[in-house]
Amino acid sequence: MAWFLCACIFPVIALTLLLLQATFRNCLATRGGPPCLPALPIIGSLLSLRSDQPHILFQKLQQKYGQTYSVMMGSHTVILVNHHHHAKEVLLKKGKIFAGRPRTVTTDLLTRDGKDIAFADYSATWRFHRKIVHGALCMFGEGSASIEKIICREALSLSETLGESGSVPLDLSPELTRAVTNVVCSLCFNSSYRRGDPEFEAMLQYSQGIVDTVAKDSLVDIFPWLQIFPNADLSLLKQCVAIRDKLLQKKYEEHKADYSDHVQRDLLDALLRAKRSTENNNTTEITTETVGLTEDHLLMTVGDIFGAGVETTTTVLKWAVAYLIHHPQVQKRIQEELDRVVGGDRSPQLSDRGSLPYLEATIREVLRIRPVAPLLIPHVAQTDTSIGEFTVRKGARVIINLWSLHHDQKEWKNPEIFDPGRFLDEEGTGLCIPSPSYLPFGTGVRVCLGESLAKMEIFLFLSWILQRFTLSVPTGQPLPSLEGKFGVVLQPVKYKVNATPRWNNNQ
Ligand code: HEM
Repeated sequence: MAWFLCACIFPVIALTLLLLQATFRNCLATRGGPPCLPALPIIGSLLSLRSDQPHILFQKLQQKYGQTYSVMMGSHTVILVNHHHHAKEVLLKKGKIFAGRPRTVTTDLLTRDGKDIAFADYSATWRFHRKIVHGALCMFGEGSASIEKIICREALSLSETLGESGSVPLDLSPELTRAVTNVVCSLCFNSSYRRGDPEFEAMLQYSQGIVDTVAKDSLVDIFPWLQIFPNADLSLLKQCVAIRDKLLQKKYEEHKADYSDHVQRDLLDALLRAKRSTENNNTTEITTETVGLTEDHLLMTVGDIFGAGVETTTTVLKWAVAYLIHHPQVQKRIQEELDRVVGGDRSPQLSDRGSLPYLEATIREVLRIRPVAPLLIPHVAQTDTSIGEFTVRKGARVIINLWSLHHDQKEWKNPEIFDPGRFLDEEGTGLCIPSPSYLPFGTGVRVCLGESLAKMEIFLFLSWILQRFTLSVPTGQPLPSLEGKFGVVLQPVKYKVNATPRWNNNQ
């Protein structure tokens, strides 16, 4: 009996001592660090963090713990930054030090262990891929006629669809997604989709599956060992990734088959060219593996531009329409501006941007009030360092709570009120950024790669729609909810609109 008791009690005591040691180590790790939420062994601060709107919870926790504090996600220290001073220290002043990304189960699955750009750790390979994509995007960049042509082609198709809807209430989401997907498809693969194309329908489905399951700090990302148990989210993500991979592989094979060194049609050609030139100059130091130009890297980089380029821009457009329906007076003022500057005989173009300040101010306000990436993408400290007066250990994860920055009462008057006028100067004719607490695309080393493309798309799609249609809530239906559903992006919930033509002949 005594032997049996010893056999049972000893492991319990040993486990307790191990847990206490782990907790003690965490306390040591945070000495001089930011205030920390209560943390239990193994699960860390999870009990205090249950919320389906983590950005709002993290904002509220400031009242008790200050603007910069830390939480334990399992065994990981995560620092929450809620003020622009510290945010800029992390992203700009110490941008390189904080340029790491955490590895998690879901992002590893999505990116074949970080072989993309957005979720890749800071490395020569990441820098190399970022440079190639940046170069390819510049090729189509701001002021370039080709990107404008591509976006306008999609804006026209979108307007035609709205025109055909008559007075039938329409869920704009698939239409906006198709328009934005086709722009990114043209950039990546020099191809686009027609309405109802089965490949496009498959893409819509897998994209939503990825948004719903990836990088949400789900339990499996905090405790990777949970993978051994059945997990519905993880199964869905695996299915979606498999469909995406099949599609990417198909595009890759097609491009390889008709690749020419003399023509660069799109991003995939740019990546293939870089891969071939490395293969031709293979030395012992430079190989396709060392610079990261393997097939996996190429596919994941293109997949990343897709993932980062479609959901974000579409979501901003959906928020913009939702707010315009809530604020018809804002919509009317944009239309008056469009009528004055562009008129009805031609369509808006990028060169009109400087003459449409109220529309630009509205876009800025949408990006402020509902930031699509309210927690950016987590950063990781690559060395021991500090944020303000707080010590930060190498490996600590840092989350910039953009939601707090964009809703800071000291920086923004009535931050929950939608007011494009706050981005206009005193005369009401020029644009301004009234507070430094505004970073919709992040800043510094990891700043969004698609900022200028996204701004062009949002401007052209909105101006084309509002020149031709007045958007309103269908009779008898409620106004769209402005609350948002948190995932890898903050999405509005589904809603329908009526698009009423402003002229008889609206094309
Ligand atoms: C309005 C639309 C968009 C918004 C609001 C947005 C916002 C952001 C934000 C906040 C980040 C994270 C910055 C950080 O972690 O510090 C990011 C990263 C990124 N974005 Fe965007 N984005 C948009 C559109 C796009 C588009 C159209 C593309 C591609 C064509 C794109 C490509 C990327 C990439 C590749 C990264 C990762 C950069 C890196 O980690 O080095 N984004 N974006």
